[in-house]
Amino acid sequence: MAQVINGKETAASVIAQVKSTTATLEAETGVTPGLAVILVGADPASQAYVGSKSKMAKECGFKSVQYSLPEATSQEELMALVADLNADPTIHGILVQLPLPKHLDSEPVIQAILPEKDVDGLHVVNAGKLATGDTETGLISCTPAGALILVRNVRGEDLSGLNAVVIGRSNLFGKPMAQLLLTRNATVTTAHSRTKDLAAVCRTADILVAAVGRPEMVKADWVKPGATVIDVGINRVAAPEKGEGKTKLVGDCDYASCEPVAGAITPVPGGVGPMTIAMLMANTVIAAYRKAG
Ligand code: GUN
Repeated sequence: MAQVINGKETAASVIAQVKSTTATLEAETGVTPGLAVILVGADPASQAYVGSKSKMAKECGFKSVQYSLPEATSQEELMALVADLNADPTIHGILVQLPLPKHLDSEPVIQAILPEKDVDGLHVVNAGKLATGDTETGLISCTPAGALILVRNVRGEDLSGLNAVVIGRSNLFGKPMAQLLLTRNATVTTAHSRTKDLAAVCRTADILVAAVGRPEMVKADWVKPGATVIDVGINRVAAPEKGEGKTKLVGDCDYASCEPVAGAITPVPGGVGPMTIAMLMANTVIAAYRKAG
């Protein structure tokens, strides 16, 4: 039986810390952290994520502003909103929910965000700092930062001698996750859709991190016995067992078959998901502190 890694509980302790830091910041400087979240279009999953982020920001005592823009928003309109928020001294964090509708180019939008307000850690300045081993002065992408805390809770700070395999190579997750694991001295492999014999590569992993967006792709025989399995996938699938037309969330790992093989595993939901939101709050309070300090 694997240890079930409780992301909800760990996220709650991060949030508690964020709340107390927010109170201290306000008492000492009069500054309230401000987070602006931008959603373009009406993708239901994105709407749900953005709603949770805005709600949690309020709970943390932040100024929380949500911009829900229509699908037909132009590149220029989006860029103009980012420019306004860059110039707004009450806003310390700006997040543009991804993916954007197809007619919009996300890269110029992300690069237009001031690096010190880039709470997603996607600006080249922040990505570059992480890539060159500076984990202190920039902002780190929320999901990998949260996943690393869960790994640390099981494996400790130093991952020397351990093999880590990250499946997925996105700028938002796979690349920063691999780099974070490297900073902790793990031997890191980044696997992806073109990797040959993915199962065999995964079986070398003491720490297996799956972020592919394919429901239950990772099977028991991909998992090295005793491995720490971090499932970053959030996939909505049909759940006929719950009734006609019902759906449920599953990860990128086949939890039922992987759990008996793994040493520790994150559930979906309740694993990495809550950590993403918690780290977004942490990044926002860090950004506000730096600005105030
Ligand atoms: N879409 C899915 N995850 C994320 C995230 O962490 N940040 C942003 N901006 N968009 C996302």
